[in-house]
Amino acid sequence: MNLTVTPVRGLCGELTIPGDKSISHRAVMLGALADGETTVTNFLPGEDCLSTVQCFRALGVDIKHANRTTVRLCGRGRHGLQEPADVLDAGNSGTTMRLLLGILAGQPFFSVVTGDASLRRRPMGRVTRPLAEMGALLLGRDGANYAPIAVVGRRLRGFSYRLPVASAQLKSALLLAGLFADGPVRVTEPLPSRDHTERMLSAFGALVHRDGLTVTITPSRLQGRDIAVPGDISSAAFLIVAALITPESDLVLRGVGVNPTRTGLLDVLNRMGAAITLSETRMSGSEPVADLRVRSSALRGTVVDGALIPRLIDEIPVLAVAAAFADGETVIRDAAELRVKESDRLTTVCQELTKLGADIRETPDGLIIRGTGRLQGGRCQSHGDHRIAMAVVVAGLAAARETVLEDPDCIDISFPGFTEALKSVCLE
Ligand code: S3P
Repeated sequence: MNLTVTPVRGLCGELTIPGDKSISHRAVMLGALADGETTVTNFLPGEDCLSTVQCFRALGVDIKHANRTTVRLCGRGRHGLQEPADVLDAGNSGTTMRLLLGILAGQPFFSVVTGDASLRRRPMGRVTRPLAEMGALLLGRDGANYAPIAVVGRRLRGFSYRLPVASAQLKSALLLAGLFADGPVRVTEPLPSRDHTERMLSAFGALVHRDGLTVTITPSRLQGRDIAVPGDISSAAFLIVAALITPESDLVLRGVGVNPTRTGLLDVLNRMGAAITLSETRMSGSEPVADLRVRSSALRGTVVDGALIPRLIDEIPVLAVAAAFADGETVIRDAAELRVKESDRLTTVCQELTKLGADIRETPDGLIIRGTGRLQGGRCQSHGDHRIAMAVVVAGLAAARETVLEDPDCIDISFPGFTEALKSVCLE
């Protein structure tokens, strides 16, 4: 079924954003490895996080849904996972596969992890190489670069490792492997990436220490606890941009995670002239959250590069939509990582926004968008990529004519209820 998007005058009212995807994954993983019970509230019931739940059930963990967004886990302790009877399926989720590989590398059993066609095309060598250096045996196509990956877990050695890319998934995989090592694991990132794993490991009682760009974990036990997941700023991003580029918006988003490693989009949009204000900033466990108020704004083009990129890596498709509605040129560079996401997002965002009338071109590591202040509307594809799908919908809300999106079901990967949330605040 296709999704038809008709232009709207604005987004008004209040919304609570579903739980953060990255934090929901980690809550299940650490809860599974902890001693005692963990209850996760505002868990994201998106397909990616449900893949994580299924994988840990297959590893012997008792996980119950009290309702769609409350999950109770009986932790099995660091040494309590069981050999899975079958192949573990990470679905579309890179976070599930990469973090799981870190955990499986330290288990005294054999396992195999696979995923859907998109995930089987994404590079895993960045994770399997350092895990092999720690002592695990990992096999897969092209030197264990592509799933399915078979893992013969071993007692791991502590080590120091310099990450070749600013990837929180890679950093997290190695920190999780560090729980099973015989000494400290020290990882140094080229630029700061999201730090949810470090924060949550500390909250579960692990010995984690940060010194500049280096994080060290000393093998430690975890103690189960309750986690209240903040709203996902990467999901809020679609509503924020939709509100900015439609003319009569005044939208409040409650309880959005504002961890500084994730707020690059807010910094860039503010620089572009966006009227976004934060209030009621507070802590939800180890993560900061705030209420955001967003009003229609005239945006200006800008340059986005360097240390900003890891802080808004998932928001670049929707930032490109904002840039198309801005006055002047926006240049995004240092973002070659986008080529190995759920789709090659530099190509797919360029293709789909071009169909809607945008003046956009891709470079090897970024995008150049000449803002014209308007888009025409048209017929687009999602490429099975949830963030491309939602970026197209946002563009369609502010376009001159109707937009049709083919293959929209992938939106459920990270934002179940996206179209209903939009309908509840859109002014026809
Ligand atoms: C994620 C990290 C990012 C991000 C992904 C989720 C995570 O990937 O794109 O959606 O939960 O750690 P990389 O760390 O590989 O850039």
